[in-house]
Amino acid sequence: MGSERQFLFLCQGKDCKKLGAKLLKKEIKSLLQAKLHRGKFQLVLTKCMDRCKSGPICALGNEVLKRVSIRDIEKKIKEATSLDSQQG
Ligand code: FES
Repeated sequence: MGSERQFLFLCQGKDCKKLGAKLLKKEIKSLLQAKLHRGKFQLVLTKCMDRCKSGPICALGNEVLKRVSIRDIEKKIKEATSLDSQQG
């Protein structure tokens, strides 16, 4: 089951966009194009997740990431990838 694709949800609601979610979408897309991550993650754009004051909001696995930056996402993806390879 280790090769299953993980979903990464990114809010594209009005408030998150104001807080940088539009640029973040581009950054995540290019990050996921990297050979290392290709085919392992699927970016899903969402409407408002009702956490507007803490935007941009992103969810990966069971975790909701608040005021997220591309650095945070890189870190989480790296963790998720290493967990994935440990589980085989
Ligand atoms: S606009 Fe993103 S949580 Fe509301």
